[in-house]
Amino acid sequence: MSIADLPRVYPLAQLLVFLRHKGMTARHIAFGAGVLFFLWASYHTFFSPQSFSFPGEIYVAPPTTTTPETWRYRAEQVKAAFIHAYHGYELHAWKSDELRPMSGTGQNNFNGWGVTVIDSLDTMYLMGLRDEFDRAVRFVEHSNFTQPASQGLYAPFFETVIRYLGGLLSAYALSRDTILLQRADDLGGLLSPAFGTDSGFPDFGVSTSTGERRGPPIGILAEIASCQLEYTYLAKETGKKRYFDLADNVVKTLSHANLSNVGGMPPTRWSNTLGTPFDTHLSVGAQADSAHEYLLKQYLLTAKTDRKSLEMYIRTTTHILTNLFYLSPTRHFLYVTDTTGNGHGVTRPSHTFEHLSCFLPGLLALGAHTLPLSDLASIGINLNDLAKNLSPESKIDYAKMSKYNLRDVHLWAAEGLAQACYLTYVDQPSGLGPDEIVIYGTPDRSKPNNQVLGGERWFDALEAWKRSGGRGTPPGLTPTAPVVYTEKERVYGPAKSRPLRDYGIRKTGYLLRPETLESFYILHRVTGDSRWREHGWTIFKSIVKQTKTPSGFASIRNVQLSPAIQQDDMPSYFTAETLKYLYLMFTDEDLIPLDKYVFNTEGHPLPIFEWSPQEKSGWNIS
Ligand SMILES: *[C@@H]1O[C@H](CO)[C@@H](O)[C@H](O)[C@H]1NC(C)=O
Ligand SMILES: *[C@@H]1O[C@H](CO)[C@@H](O)[C@H](O)[C@H]1NC(C)=O
Repeated sequence: MSIADLPRVYPLAQLLVFLRHKGMTARHIAFGAGVLFFLWASYHTFFSPQSFSFPGEIYVAPPTTTTPETWRYRAEQVKAAFIHAYHGYELHAWKSDELRPMSGTGQNNFNGWGVTVIDSLDTMYLMGLRDEFDRAVRFVEHSNFTQPASQGLYAPFFETVIRYLGGLLSAYALSRDTILLQRADDLGGLLSPAFGTDSGFPDFGVSTSTGERRGPPIGILAEIASCQLEYTYLAKETGKKRYFDLADNVVKTLSHANLSNVGGMPPTRWSNTLGTPFDTHLSVGAQADSAHEYLLKQYLLTAKTDRKSLEMYIRTTTHILTNLFYLSPTRHFLYVTDTTGNGHGVTRPSHTFEHLSCFLPGLLALGAHTLPLSDLASIGINLNDLAKNLSPESKIDYAKMSKYNLRDVHLWAAEGLAQACYLTYVDQPSGLGPDEIVIYGTPDRSKPNNQVLGGERWFDALEAWKRSGGRGTPPGLTPTAPVVYTEKERVYGPAKSRPLRDYGIRKTGYLLRPETLESFYILHRVTGDSRWREHGWTIFKSIVKQTKTPSGFASIRNVQLSPAIQQDDMPSYFTAETLKYLYLMFTDEDLIPLDKYVFNTEGHPLPIFEWSPQEKSGWNIS
């Protein structure tokens, strides 16, 4: 019963008092009330139109054809989900970092500066939620990013940059409200002592009250090389050269590194003192992902002037496509994994496939959309020249790749991998994808405890396909039917008659992550194929069904169960990214054209800009 229903109770109480006066016993009244309640409940269950909206559901009847009206309706459903999540945060966790959606409380896990407010600003702006946006801007106006050193708190540099600085800058770019830029300038300045390492790579953390740095001497690729977009755009808007220098120094140090024994792809760990690679672990997943993303996006953001970033992007993707992509052995779906080298050309793939890696289809599609990949010579790039300083093995890979139309290969990989990401969702009873799977090898029944992992390298299969004439669908692109295990099969192993799934689940949770939906959004925009947004709608329905709580949406612990078991957190990237990408995907109007904006790795769009002649000469931009 809602608050609005309460006044109706008073006449009822008066009626009871009146009947009691007329000599009716309590038993008569109770019986009469019981009959009335039965009639009321029956009416509401079977006849009232409200009976079709169950608590926790925000749907009406599922549409049969997907008309523009239906897409508008679906976008509205996403907006309704955003309002549910954000109002839940405002009501139960205002000023805390994130909502705990089961207990209806807040938690401070990102500096205690209200990360959900700042991460959600641009989503509210795009959805036209004016009141919420205005409340949030007033909150930002009174924000103070200086932390009392007495608490010994260090802001984690990477997370603070992508969520807070990226959030403020994007909201500023869309609304042009100068208070947002002032706060971004404050924060960018307070975080900049992090760059005080010998290499100029940012340290893990920094105290914004004392400027002290903190972190191990070995830095993580994603954390040292995912700040270029934010600091470069901040420099452009504030006119402060030092912000540009901080970002540009990261690009320069990366581009000077000797990557000869890792195929030209930056590995996961780096010395913050020397600015050189520290290991040979190559990954597009955790600890690496966004660094690869920022290579392409830094080039795009600067209206295609940052050539160093472009060359690194082409090298990195060439190595990823030739060495990190594999085909599963039975269902032949495409997956991307990580490898470790022994420093002498021998690499070993782990055959794990992370949900985080599902951003890669979107990145590859964005590159295919914005770069002349079919004709690299037109921008003065030649794959064999890019391999000049690499190992003999890599020279061979690059030479083979130069025989393809690169745009085709990037789009094939994007489509195949996005299909596999989708498959990991629709294979589960919950309809949601696990955080990490490991691909099994071809089963060898002759060996007990057969531990073989993984399938064939995709590029080898592609070469074979090309040699045999390159007819039909390239390997890894044929859609695969889902194999949903029942509860019994999950516990006792799959029934013999059913096809093998090709993988086991290593991390069973779905943490409300955006990567798969982000890729569907970009693929939909780049290819115009509405299959991607139909997939997005299918996933959105599962998100609502499995993760919705009375105050928000909750991560879930195990995608193999339906109903899923929820856990008490709603990461700020859910409103910053997951719901934003869904909304943009379902909105026919192109609110964020991909040739005018780039998204930072937290889903915050920043506008592509050109350097002025003064900036070029004054800041030494070639
Ligand atoms: C922000 O907080 C710091 C430390 O608590 C304080 O010294 C400073 O004056 C505050 N700044 C503003 C603008 O309120
Ligand atoms: C790069 O490192 C390799 C060994 O990993 C070495 O053989 C090569 O000489 C180095 N290149 C440069 C330019 O230092």
